[in-house]
Amino acid sequence: MVNQTSIVVLALLLLLLFESTVEQRLSSSTELTALFELRSSLGIRRGDWPRKVDPCSSWNGVRCENGSVSGINISGFRRTRLGEQNPRFAVGSLANFTGLVSFNASRFLLPGSIPDWFGQRLLALQVLDLRSCNITGVLPSSIGNLSSLTSLYLSDNRLSGEIPSSFGRLLSLSVLDLSKNSLTGSIPQGIGALSGLRTLNLSSNSLTSSIPAQLGGLDSLVDLDLSNNGLSGLLPANLFRASSLLQVIVLRNNSFIGEVPEVIWSISGLNMLDISRNNFTARLSNASSNDSNAIAAVLDISGNNFYGGLTTIVRRFSSVNLSGNYFEGRVPDYVSDNAASLGTNCLQNVLSQRTLTDCASFYAERGLSFDNFGSTNSSEPSAPESRNSDRSSNRNRIILAAVLGGAGFIVLLTSLLLLVQFLRRRKKVNHRGIGIGQVPLEAGPPSPGLASNFSSLADMFTYQQLLQATADFTDANLIKHGHSGDLFKGILESGLPVVVKRIDSRSIKKEVYLLELDFFSKVAHTRVVPLLGHCFEKENEKLLVYKYMPNGDLSSSLYRKNNSEGDGLKSLDWITRLKIAIGAAEGLSYLHHECTPPLVHRDVQASSILLDDKFEVRLGSLSRVCPQEGNGHSNRITRLMRLPQSSEQDSSDCPAASCAYDVYCFGTVLLGLVTGKLDIDASSKTLMKEWLEQTLPYISIYDKELVTKILDPSLLVDEDLLEEVWAMAIVARRCLNPKPSRRPLMKYILKALENPLRVVREDDSSSARLRRASSRGSWNAAIFGSWRQSSSDITVIPATYTSKAEGGTSFKRSGTTGSQGSSARKGGGGDQSVSHRHHSKEISTEA
Ligand SMILES: *[C@@H]1O[C@H](CO)[C@@H](O)[C@H](O)[C@H]1NC(C)=O
Ligand SMILES: *[C@@H]1O[C@H](CO)[C@@H](O)[C@H](O)[C@H]1NC(C)=O
Ligand SMILES: *[C@@H]1O[C@H](CO)[C@@H](O)[C@H](O)[C@H]1NC(C)=O
Ligand SMILES: *[C@@H]1O[C@H](CO)[C@@H](O)[C@H](O)[C@H]1NC(C)=O
Ligand SMILES: *[C@@H]1O[C@H](CO)[C@@H](O)[C@H](O)[C@H]1NC(C)=O
Ligand SMILES: *[C@@H]1O[C@H](CO)[C@@H](O)[C@H](O)[C@H]1NC(C)=O
Ligand SMILES: *[C@@H]1O[C@H](CO)[C@@H](O)[C@H](O)[C@H]1NC(C)=O
Ligand SMILES: *[C@@H]1O[C@H](CO)[C@@H](O)[C@H](O)[C@H]1NC(C)=O
Ligand SMILES: *[C@@H]1O[C@H](CO)[C@@H](O)[C@H](O)[C@H]1NC(C)=O
Ligand SMILES: *[C@@H]1O[C@H](CO)[C@@H](O)[C@H](O)[C@H]1NC(C)=O
Ligand SMILES: *[C@@H]1O[C@H](CO)[C@@H](O)[C@H](O)[C@H]1NC(C)=O
Ligand SMILES: *[C@@H]1O[C@H](CO)[C@@H](O)[C@H](O)[C@H]1NC(C)=O
Repeated sequence: MVNQTSIVVLALLLLLLFESTVEQRLSSSTELTALFELRSSLGIRRGDWPRKVDPCSSWNGVRCENGSVSGINISGFRRTRLGEQNPRFAVGSLANFTGLVSFNASRFLLPGSIPDWFGQRLLALQVLDLRSCNITGVLPSSIGNLSSLTSLYLSDNRLSGEIPSSFGRLLSLSVLDLSKNSLTGSIPQGIGALSGLRTLNLSSNSLTSSIPAQLGGLDSLVDLDLSNNGLSGLLPANLFRASSLLQVIVLRNNSFIGEVPEVIWSISGLNMLDISRNNFTARLSNASSNDSNAIAAVLDISGNNFYGGLTTIVRRFSSVNLSGNYFEGRVPDYVSDNAASLGTNCLQNVLSQRTLTDCASFYAERGLSFDNFGSTNSSEPSAPESRNSDRSSNRNRIILAAVLGGAGFIVLLTSLLLLVQFLRRRKKVNHRGIGIGQVPLEAGPPSPGLASNFSSLADMFTYQQLLQATADFTDANLIKHGHSGDLFKGILESGLPVVVKRIDSRSIKKEVYLLELDFFSKVAHTRVVPLLGHCFEKENEKLLVYKYMPNGDLSSSLYRKNNSEGDGLKSLDWITRLKIAIGAAEGLSYLHHECTPPLVHRDVQASSILLDDKFEVRLGSLSRVCPQEGNGHSNRITRLMRLPQSSEQDSSDCPAASCAYDVYCFGTVLLGLVTGKLDIDASSKTLMKEWLEQTLPYISIYDKELVTKILDPSLLVDEDLLEEVWAMAIVARRCLNPKPSRRPLMKYILKALENPLRVVREDDSSSARLRRASSRGSWNAAIFGSWRQSSSDITVIPATYTSKAEGGTSFKRSGTTGSQGSSARKGGGGDQSVSHRHHSKEISTEA
């Protein structure tokens, strides 16, 4: 038994030995010489191709047939040190291997160009693999002579010039991979004759013009990749066939236009269709879909101009990228959220869509009608809130049904009760005013248990919920980097749009968000942005959730894209601007005067003034809110003691906790509303100073017309409204008084903004003046009280204006006539004018 087996094994071994010695031994001395020449010209190491042994049997990568070399595979070989120093495409001796079937030198550097004689001498060649060889030059047209060639891999080189049309004669070719070169020109029509071609990869070249219709003749094609070229035009109608064997079609990043041939959707084996980043303009096919392929199939049509509704065809693919198109309508249920990219479209109820303007003009340009995100009012700006509420109410209904159906009813009742109780408690707190001083504020770090105290405040979210709401805090949802954390847009599972502040507690002090939470636990005012919840699950990442404000903040919504005319900016009208100013003043006045202890905001700027769907102000950026210096009791003393030019002029990071600072900042906002330059406050202090020096001289209680010189050019105001503008400018200037003690209190600013005409208009009858004196006196005095002093700080009225001004005799010294023509003011100087207004006795009220 044992003997028999060993004899069989021995016989087999002998047979193998015989075969290798007899059949594989290199018989041609020419070829042997040529191999040694090749070894030295390419710098192949002796370890790979040793002397004194038969190359056919003992050299790495050399294959022989009938005693002659049939295959050379030096792929990935390391060169000798000498060869390394001067790598060249020196393969002249290959010409002597008339029976060479395959040459594989991939990843073996051969700087130089493919010799023309390849096509005349290597006529038996079937496989040529020169991938990543750093080859340069053009493709010799003689390669078209290699009629036995089945695989031609030349990708990742530096080939230039056109693809020779002679390639159309490579009738045995199965793989043509010329990707990642610098080939130019168009795809030769002749390629279409290669009926055996299975892979055509011409990606990442600089090919241009359209795909020749002849390519429709590639009956055996399985993989087609023409991506990253400059190809253009329509896809030939006959390019694809339903019976096609195609599995992969990649036309990404070209400039194709028009429609995608309908038949493409019925290619049954297709598992990858990537036509992204082109200019295809079409509806998505609603050919009946067959989801038998859905397991692995990928569809990427992102970055085109697809429009209309989503169709069931997407069911055929397991992963779809539809982003960057103009799809409209609702997202059907069969589009699964996690496998579909839907961003930058015109879809309803989806985050990060295009603006209404973009969508409407796209559809209008093509004479199509657009669903306006499902809203019936076509002129209304797209309010994401209303878009999202559809989905939310839908989902809510489903959730409600589910809850009511089960034992969850009890849970619902309980939570309702809890909610009622919570609301009651909050209300009570409001009535009592706020006791923010109870929590350690500036003194010492907050107690460790503090955070848990807030668990009853608003909702507790899980980290997972907020991750989901903001799509993993993707950059696309980032609103801005705030100084106390990054703000992200998100949509809760219920469909409610929210803003999530993500606070990295390693870089931002813990107290900052705890103070903000404390503020919210005590303040719930209609002028303060509502806090919806929080999440403290993560050690280093604290999340606060706020109500989403559809109109963003003032700095971003002062100008918005004009809906009706496509391009051009539309700015907020004056009525809205005044409304915003009043709203913000209400909020600040509440903080300054109605809270106990009185608070200051310390971050008043356009971007802190948030706007809901009706442009009602909700103050945001509340992380710097703190009690007023001296806790409201020693206001007068601190003010007296404070040096002029304090806090806001220096560049310290931490603004003073004084009302006067808020008022100053509010002044810049008011001035921004008048002049349209709201972005100034974000820029440098010196710019701000320059701007004020240029602007403030145009604001005078004695001259209405002057203000038109600084008026926002996009504001169209008639005579009546101009008086309001003038009034706001005057209030702004008062707020910007360099001396903090001369700035009016917020409550007076509010009154002045609520009654702008009374700021600037004279009362005709003295009885009316008397009647109103008591009610309007104090605020009006606050605005005008020390006008003269503040004017003299900066005012230099331009001389050019002097000559034009009507009756401007005493102009330079003390102002000029108002357009209302009050003779009393004329020439009287500031004192007289103030006393004429019956305010002089109230000058001191503000201090
Ligand atoms: C190999 O071919 C080259 C070029 O055709 C020729 O010059 C050379 O003599 C040949 N080598 C041998 C050993 O025949
Ligand atoms: C030669 O080609 C084959 C694949 O055809 C490859 O696996 C092998 O690593 C290559 N190199 C050598 C030295 O044989
Ligand atoms: C090798 O020899 C066999 C039979 O002798 C023949 O069929 C085959 O075509 C030859 N191969 C080459 C490459 O010459
Ligand atoms: C060439 O060799 C590499 C490995 O070194 C291999 O991956 C590749 O498939 C070979 N080329 C061909 C056409 O067989
Ligand atoms: C290819 O050749 C160029 C120029 O000769 C050289 O700069 C580059 O480093 C080479 N690439 C590689 C991968 O060696
Ligand atoms: C090979 O092709 C070149 C140019 O395409 C041609 O001039 C030459 O005659 C061809 N040689 C053979 C042997 O077919
Ligand atoms: C085409 O070539 C590129 C680069 O060489 C490669 O990344 C891509 O996968 C290839 N395409 C196909 C369909 O194989
Ligand atoms: C798109 O193709 C061009 C060449 O036509 C290339 O330069 C560019 O990098 C490609 N873009 C991407 C994102 O691949
Ligand atoms: C798409 O077409 C538009 C207009 O025809 C053109 O401006 C744009 O450059 C094209 N985009 C691409 C990627 O070809
Ligand atoms: C797609 O479906 C709609 C209605 O569902 C139909 O009106 C339209 O003609 C269809 N389009 C195509 C290309 O089949
Ligand atoms: C769906 O595919 C199955 C086989 O995978 C085939 O029998 C059926 O006819 C196809 N249906 C359509 C509508 O293409
Ligand atoms: C979808 O396509 C866009 C644009 O081509 C791209 O930025 C995005 O990363 C893609 N999404 C996925 C999930 O691949």
